[in-house]
Order: sequence, then structure tokens, then C-alpha cells
Amino acid sequence: MSHLIDIKKFSKEGFYIFDNFFSKIEIEQLYSATHFLLKKFENNENLIDQNLKIATGNETVAELDNSEHVVLADRRKNKIDNGMIDIFNPQKIYSKESDIFNFFRKKIELECIPILEKNYSKKFALEATNIYQHYKTTNPRKAHYDNEDNYFKLFLFLSDVKDNTGSFFFYKFSHKQKLRKKLMNRLNKFFFKNNELEDKNFIFNDKFKINFTGNIGTTVVTDVSGIHGCNPFSLDDEKKRLVLVQRITPIN
Ligand SMILES: [Fe+2]
Repeated sequence: MSHLIDIKKFSKEGFYIFDNFFSKIEIEQLYSATHFLLKKFENNENLIDQNLKIATGNETVAELDNSEHVVLADRRKNKIDNGMIDIFNPQKIYSKESDIFNFFRKKIELECIPILEKNYSKKFALEATNIYQHYKTTNPRKAHYDNEDNYFKLFLFLSDVKDNTGSFFFYKFSHKQKLRKKLMNRLNKFFFKNNELEDKNFIFNDKFKINFTGNIGTTVVTDVSGIHGCNPFSLDDEKKRLVLVQRITPIN
């Protein structure tokens, strides 16, 4: 059962690259449903009829996560994450494409969550599903962590990522280095006056930095209580990065 998560390796290293978690046909269906959705937004075609909405920019992430609509947040003009389009809740589209996005969620719920729950002895649930499209991102989110406690993101690549430009990265073992993270957090807060849980990785060693490259279909799960982020594109790079993301959150 090579498509299942090797939970020992995952909980030790903080990331796990699956061997064929999704089948070729499933990946093709997810690819075409994602492009169907992107096209609708691009052409501004019957957005309301299909339950699609464009974010105003004033919503909180929680509001976007819990929206009854499929919402596109265009972050291309933001200082950070420029070059990124973020689509929330693709499964809420009013068309047959919703089936394959629901399948994506269901498969993760049935095949990953029980293994995670057994290993960590706590309950987890699916959170929002997102589509990230990156294009010519020059100032992406730097190394940071999302959460103090174990919290997961599963990525399915819908484009080839052949080199480090624009790829996600993860610092191996960093999810276990709680003291270092706390130190980083305090330094950021009190010395650099930055209230976020993030963005300085100088106390983490780059030799543990793993860049996630791979072809379409590559599926990676990461513990984003570890240090992670996104590498910039080189400016002349015309390739777009497309990825389907599932967040899995602990239930308290
Ligand atoms: Fe993050």
C-alpha cells in the first residue's frame, strides 16, 4: 500500500512525499476541474450562477474559509504573495466539477485523518480547500510557521515543478524544535517588533531546507507547525505554478 502515509517518517521529518496517492485519472480530473474554474474567473463568466465570487480584499481569512461561495482572492498586488491567486472552497461550485473536488476532500478525510488521529492521539478535521496559482512571484511568504501545535497541509501539484524557482520549501525536523520556534517568535516580537509567528529563519540551518519539486500529481503532506515558505521565481520565468491545497486542523 505504497500510497499510504508512512506516519513514522512523517512525524519525524515533518513532511512526506506520497507515492501515487491520487491515480492518474483522478489527477487529470482535478486538473481539468481546476482549469475550468480558473477560466470562469478569467472570463468573468456567469460567476453568480455558479456560486463564484471575487473577494473585495476586506475579508478575513476565516471569512473566506467559511464562505458559502467559491471565492477568488487576488493577491498579485500585495507586497507579500504577489503573483498569487488564491481560490477558496472550489468544491462549492454549482456544476459537476464540484464532485471531483469533494472526492479530493473525502479521500484525504478517509485515508489520512485516521492515521494522523491514531499517531497524535487527537482529533483532526478537514478545513478549507484552496487552489494556489503562483506566477512571477518575486516576494513570496518567507520562512515562517502557521501554528504552535501540529497542523497539516497537503499539496497536490497540478503543474510540474522542475526546479527550485517558485517551489515550496520545508525545514526538516523544524516542527519538533519548539524551543527554537519560541525563541524565534520572541525575537520577532520584542526585538524586531513583528507580531507575526514568522519570517526570520536565521536560527534554523539551511542544510535542512527541502525544496519540493516534482511533476504534476506529486502529493506532499507537511506539518506547518514546522518552518516553511515559498521560493521566489526568477523574473523571466513564464511558468505558472498550480497546486491544490487541503488544510487539516486539530479539533480542540
Ligand atoms: Fe504557512
